[in-house]
Amino acid sequence: MASKHTSRALRSSLRQLSAPRVQQRTFAAAVNASRPTLQKVATPAFVQQTRGMKTVDFAGDKEVVYERDDWPRDKLLEYFKNDTLALIGYGSQGHGQGLNLRDNGLNVIIGVRKDGASWKEAQQDGWVPGTNLFDVDEAIQKGTIIMNLLSDSAQSTTWPRIKPMLTKGKTLYFSHGFSPVFRDQTKVDCPSDIDVILVAPKGSGRTVRTLFREGRGINSSVAVWQDVTGKAEEKAIALGVAIGSGYMYKTTFQKEVYSDLYGERGCLMGGIHGMFLAQYEVLREKGHSPSEAFNETVEEATQSLYPLIGQNGMDYMYAACSTTARRGAIDWSKRFKDNLKPLFDELYESVREGKETQRAMEYGSRSDYREAFEKEMEEIRSMEIWRAGKAVRSLRPENA
Ligand SMILES: NC(=O)c1ccc[n+]([C@@H]2O[C@H](COP(=O)([O-])OP(=O)(O)OC[C@H]3O[C@@H](n4cnc5c(N)ncnc54)[C@H](OP(=O)(O)O)[C@@H]3O)[C@@H](O)[C@H]2O)c1
Repeated sequence: MASKHTSRALRSSLRQLSAPRVQQRTFAAAVNASRPTLQKVATPAFVQQTRGMKTVDFAGDKEVVYERDDWPRDKLLEYFKNDTLALIGYGSQGHGQGLNLRDNGLNVIIGVRKDGASWKEAQQDGWVPGTNLFDVDEAIQKGTIIMNLLSDSAQSTTWPRIKPMLTKGKTLYFSHGFSPVFRDQTKVDCPSDIDVILVAPKGSGRTVRTLFREGRGINSSVAVWQDVTGKAEEKAIALGVAIGSGYMYKTTFQKEVYSDLYGERGCLMGGIHGMFLAQYEVLREKGHSPSEAFNETVEEATQSLYPLIGQNGMDYMYAACSTTARRGAIDWSKRFKDNLKPLFDELYESVREGKETQRAMEYGSRSDYREAFEKEMEEIRSMEIWRAGKAVRSLRPENA
């Protein structure tokens, strides 16, 4: 039954991998076509291209981008034919990357602690104890490429046990620069005789999996911390493709971790949640109803306007709204930027000085971190704004 399921998944993933990439006709594309005043989207200038690698001009800066075309599945299987990929930890990334590697036909095993929630979750995903599911130590001993996808704080607490098992010839892989870059705090001092590489998907592990199943690929950063064999970068790119990346942007461990911690605390999550809360609260204090406050703060943003920014950029979104909205939004954007920039500066410094990593490690190493997190989620869930949101979502045409 399991092997039938695996081969079906393999066949389906092969179909996905070989499917031609079709430009979908999106809502935004339709808007673009029907509004001649909206400027056509500029395509980036590919100043140099060899198969699987491009030097792309991003607004004047030339950067190297790798793509998966150079690594068809047969080549991946050949490249990793003597490797056992030991994926340690089965959180969001472990799940997404592990299942994609398995569907790609690579020899991947999972290592998690036997009394933890991940052990059960891995079994539910079809990993079999003693076959491709082991405890952390056993998996590391069997592996040639050790993919450390434990939580960042667990990477630090488990390091004294893990380090001696990272013997010459193995490769150490991370999906975040956190542990080696902030080694003063984490104590993760990589052995000097192994390759140390990074592939950091720019999205949740769930998205890594979903995009792979859709035959698309997530954008990832790739970097090399230590190249002992002379093959570290090539290995990172091959692994990036194997875990389900589409395009891979070359960076360093340090730049990856700084930008990642900064971004998620800012516009990606923390900052945007703070903006939502502040705007909603003012509307409520001025006598607006919960539904009106929610619609004008979150629903219109996520359902109508942000997708337009995502499709074609900010100018496109401004061009797609009314003259009145456009005028006010452009004027106020300058005020917001000026007021918020000092806060972003403070945030970047907090990241650079290690305050954010320190806090993440303290929080993540609590024995009750899952319960503590659930308590905070319950607090957010019960905020009026998000209760109003639940009701508003239930009235969307697809949910009504
Ligand atoms: N999540 C994302 O969106 C994302 C995106 C890009 C990169 N990353 C990076 O990917 C890596 C993994 O992150 P994640 O979000 O997938 O996982 P996570 O939720 O942060 O970590 C979960 C895993 O760590 C294990 N763990 C925690 N404490 C442990 C301990 N003391 N001993 C052994 N195992 C322990 C958990 O096992 P139990 O179930 O047994 O507790 C679980 O398997 C991190 O470096 C992260 O920064 C994450």
